[in-house]
Amino acid sequence: MKKGYFITFEGGEACGKSTQIAKLKDFINSLPNKSDFVFIREPGGTPLAEEIRKLLLNYEDDKPLPMTELLLFCSARSEVVNKIIKPALENGKIVIADRFYDSTIAYQGMARKIMTPKQILDLTEIIIGDLKPNLTFYFNIEPKIAFQRKAKLDENLDRIEKEGLDFHENVKKGYDFISKLEKERFVTIDATQSIDDIFNFIIKTLKEKINIIE
Ligand SMILES: Nc1ncnc2c1ncn2[C@@H]1O[C@H](COP(=O)(O)OP(=O)(O)OP(=O)(O)O)[C@@H](O)[C@H]1O
Ligand SMILES: [Mg+2]
Repeated sequence: MKKGYFITFEGGEACGKSTQIAKLKDFINSLPNKSDFVFIREPGGTPLAEEIRKLLLNYEDDKPLPMTELLLFCSARSEVVNKIIKPALENGKIVIADRFYDSTIAYQGMARKIMTPKQILDLTEIIIGDLKPNLTFYFNIEPKIAFQRKAKLDENLDRIEKEGLDFHENVKKGYDFISKLEKERFVTIDATQSIDDIFNFIIKTLKEKINIIE
């Protein structure tokens, strides 16, 4: 059976994940083997998981309890892992995800303190089994600098983005924790670099790690 490859993009708000994934999508669209790639975002990636995303990020009428928030993230993950990610990997595809369980460890674990990071890892294992990303790009940046990017955007912030600087500093501690614990899959990027420099580094890393990009 062909074996796929699973890549995740992680890091706090406005660190540049989606910007780089959009560039990567454009790049891959020009490759002859573009159908080998599957892009998803979390929470989301299936119709039901996208509905859960809306509840999590934009539902302001009845703010979820912290435990409810954690379990909604887990519900969406259960859907996308079992319906999309695992079947794609079993078919030899390269799956690229905008956020995965490191986000839950950082946000719901280290920042909201709903459970310890270790408990979240145990819960995650129950939901997704032994699935681990093969490679995780961690966009490392001080929240204060990332916040300046957000301020420039003048857009409507979602419920979690509206948390204060303290919260986002704890999110960063969560990422620092998991990137040390599972360091074999982590590639840390200095996310203060220019968009082009980061993109060139990502492409160079992908060429080294997987033999799919010419
Ligand atoms: N390397 C960079 N230097 C300066 N600005 C950047 C860089 N990368 C992205 N940006 C800008 O920062 C803002 C946030 O970027 P982006 O949406 O890619 O972040 P994100 O990590 O996906 O955030 P979120 O977690 O909120 O989804 C955008 O306005 C983007 O243009
Ligand atoms: Mg994004």
